[in-house]
Amino acid sequence: MERMIIFCMFFFCSSMVLAASSHKDLKYRQILQTIEKLEPTVKDKDVELLHTPENPVEGCLDTAMTCFKNGTLKLQPVNSQVNPNFSKYIRILSRFTFRGPEKNCESSCESYEKKTPREFLKSFAKVIKKV
Ligand SMILES: *[C@@H]1O[C@H](CO)[C@@H](O)[C@H](O)[C@H]1NC(C)=O
Ligand SMILES: *[C@@H]1O[C@H](CO)[C@@H](O)[C@H](O)[C@H]1NC(C)=O
Repeated sequence: MERMIIFCMFFFCSSMVLAASSHKDLKYRQILQTIEKLEPTVKDKDVELLHTPENPVEGCLDTAMTCFKNGTLKLQPVNSQVNPNFSKYIRILSRFTFRGPEKNCESSCESYEKKTPREFLKSFAKVIKKV
C-alpha cells in the first residue's frame, strides 16, 4: 500500500512538472505565432527605427525582452484595415512577461543597433525561439 502511495505521488508530481513545462512551451509558441502574424501588419516605411537586441547573452535576456516589449509598443499598423488584428497582437505581446536569470548585464537597450520594425520582429522571434 505504502509503495502504491509513493508511486502515485511520484506519478502525480511528474505530471505536474510536465504540465508546467508544456504550459511554458505553449506560452512561447503563442508569442512566436503572434510575432509572426504581427509582422505583415506593421508599418515598415517612414517609421521610427527600434533598438533591436541580437544574440543577447543569457544574463541579458531580461533586458532584451524588456527592450523588445518597449519597441513593440512603438509599432504602428500598416493601414486601417489591419488595425483590429494589429491591436489584438500588440495586446497579446504587451501582456507577455519574462523572468530570466539576470546577471550583470552590460548591454542596455540603447546599446543595440536600431533596425526597421520587420527586422526588429524577426530578431524578437529568434530570441523567443532560444528561450
Ligand atoms: C522603455 O521605454 C521608456 C520610454 O520610452 C524608457 O523610459 C525606458 O527606459 C525603456 N526601457 C527599456 C528597458 O529600454
Ligand atoms: C485578421 O485575422 C484573421 C485571422 O486571425 C484573418 O482571417 C483576417 O483576414 C485578418 N484580417 C485582416 C484585415 O488582415
